[in-house]
Amino acid sequence: MKHISLTRFLIEEQREHQHLTADLRLLIEVVARACKAISIAVGKGALGGVLGSANSENVQGEVQKKLDVLSNDILLEANEWGGHLAAIASEEMDLPHAIPHRYPKGEYLLLFDPLDGSSNIDVNVSVGTIFSVLRCPDGVTEPTSRDFLQPGARQLAAGYAVYGPSTILVLTIGAGVYSFTLDREVGSFVLTGRNLRIPEETQEFAINMSNQRHWEAPMQRYIGELLAGSKGPRGKDFNMRWVASMVADVHRILTRGGIFIYPRDLKDPGKPGRLRLMYEANPMAFIVEQAGGAATTGRERLLDVIPGELHQRVPVFLGSKSEVERVTAYHLG
Ligand code: AHG
Ligand code: MN
Ligand code: MN
Repeated sequence: MKHISLTRFLIEEQREHQHLTADLRLLIEVVARACKAISIAVGKGALGGVLGSANSENVQGEVQKKLDVLSNDILLEANEWGGHLAAIASEEMDLPHAIPHRYPKGEYLLLFDPLDGSSNIDVNVSVGTIFSVLRCPDGVTEPTSRDFLQPGARQLAAGYAVYGPSTILVLTIGAGVYSFTLDREVGSFVLTGRNLRIPEETQEFAINMSNQRHWEAPMQRYIGELLAGSKGPRGKDFNMRWVASMVADVHRILTRGGIFIYPRDLKDPGKPGRLRLMYEANPMAFIVEQAGGAATTGRERLLDVIPGELHQRVPVFLGSKSEVERVTAYHLG
């Protein structure tokens, strides 16, 4: 494969497809640059003084890590001055961040989970950044939370960076899924995966089994059948993997297939799920569908969910199509 940088890839995409505007290209480049900075901060670990808690809580009552706050700041600073955005929403911010009046405003809305997998930071396991791009509704100049409440099917782009043994950026602009590996010496993302496809069949699942006693009946049935292995109704053995960083679990599924599930459970009846619709479920669902996989809430297509509020949680079932369709059918049946 020729050495194709993210910049070159985007310019060539822009020439080929009208849907990639100059501003959307700029937006993706700016997010990628912020991910490089986050990758460097994450990589310094204890030497950078970035580990541990920030002694604050986010809007969802979760304790923020220093790196959650730092990553959020890096993404905000990188994105607010370019003129491509109308507003920014983040898992770590109560309300959307308005673009300061001294800068021009653009037509896009950017949403992100600045650092996914916070519980893994201090134990040196992969973490990542997830982002999603929507269009600001026509005529809106001062976007509020309500302007972000669009179904995932309206996303124009989505992606994630995973900070693992190597830093990888995965991207879709609605025409397939591409991955780029960070060349640390040169400081640029290089195209290393074209048109990624998730195998339709799999024998691997990802779930936090410690919640089993709180699951609904269709989930008990589905996982029970997988655990029964070759002697059970599925007639084959299944393997389990759970990194507990959604980015890393989804990246594995994109690489070799699998199903990722964070179902609704009855532990806390007030919470319809663990993962956030706007910052985690929607961008990942867009990527997974673009790679030939499926993504549902267990009952409906994730990308069709009409959001009711910015920080809403949702059950997530995504990955290899045949398994997602089966477990969804169990819920509907
Ligand atoms: P975040 O660190 O952004 O709050 O997200 C963590 C999420 C997700 O990455 C992962 O799949 C899940 O929480 C892990 O949940 P458990 O603690 O139940 O393993
Ligand atoms: Mn997250
Ligand atoms: Mn997070």
